[in-house]
Amino acid sequence: MKMNIYVVKFGGNAIRGKDDLMRLSREAAELIRNDAKVILVHGGGPEISAEMEKRGLNPKKVAGLRVTDESTLAVAEEVLSSLNKDVVDSLTESSVTAVGMPGYLCTLCKRKDPYTATEDGKEITVDLGLVGEVIDVNRDTLLDLLKEGVTPVIYPIGKDENGNRLNINADTMAAGIAAGVDCIELIMITDVPGILLDVKDPASKVDKLTLKEVNNLIADGTISGGMIPKVDACRDALKAGVGTVRMVNGKDPRSILTDVIKNVPHGTIITM
Ligand SMILES: Nc1ncnc2c1ncn2[C@@H]1O[C@H](COP(=O)(O)OP(=O)(O)OP(=O)(O)O)[C@@H](O)[C@H]1O
Ligand SMILES: [Mg+2]
Repeated sequence: MKMNIYVVKFGGNAIRGKDDLMRLSREAAELIRNDAKVILVHGGGPEISAEMEKRGLNPKKVAGLRVTDESTLAVAEEVLSSLNKDVVDSLTESSVTAVGMPGYLCTLCKRKDPYTATEDGKEITVDLGLVGEVIDVNRDTLLDLLKEGVTPVIYPIGKDENGNRLNINADTMAAGIAAGVDCIELIMITDVPGILLDVKDPASKVDKLTLKEVNNLIADGTISGGMIPKVDACRDALKAGVGTVRMVNGKDPRSILTDVIKNVPHGTIITM
């Protein structure tokens, strides 16, 4: 039997308030009641930065990705696993059978080699330290859970083949998983209405973009910060055969459902 699998990513800001998390959980629950199978991946960017500052560490991001040393990784893992419990609890309250797990229980990751990126329209060399990307997915583990009616809730800490832990951007983790499970849609829930031509103007949202247009927007600096790994992740998912990739605003009521069930687009859809 073919399952209708959706990979849904909850952004750190989008789930920061308890009310927002509850509302998104209710929406995920409704999607599941409508015969969808959901794999949830969540971030925790703002909380990780806040906790680092509390401990006297200096959060640093380059091209939207967190530069990660041993102590940053320890904070990220602690904060994300604690948030993971909140997400699972919130889904449970919405009558979803959910099980929380770190990304390394269902993926294999690899440390990202230093690479060239464009930030604010300039080319830079980036060495992120203990940051990785997904190279393989334990498809059967995830599909078995889905078949049993269980929703996996994944936080983005990975491991490489030697068992070393790696910090993975949540969008990267979500797209890697989406690529590995034959899902029909990847939904990135974030804190902006979609891709904006002017970050300060929500009305400048674009409904639809091709990968070529995305590349141009990165090159000219329109897409920056956390939006860079997000569109990179969308690109990887599309190339791996994921049917639809969209970004929606988690602060909007019914952000998941208006798009998916009613097919009323309100975010940005990226196409090949
Ligand atoms: N052109 C753009 N359009 C929209 N947002 C943009 C653009 N350029 C940069 N951004 C920034 O990208 C941010 C979203 O990425 P960010 O990584 O901060 O959040 P997230 O991925 O939803 O959460 P998390 O990283 O915690 O999982 C927006 O809040 C916005 O500030
Ligand atoms: Mg992000």
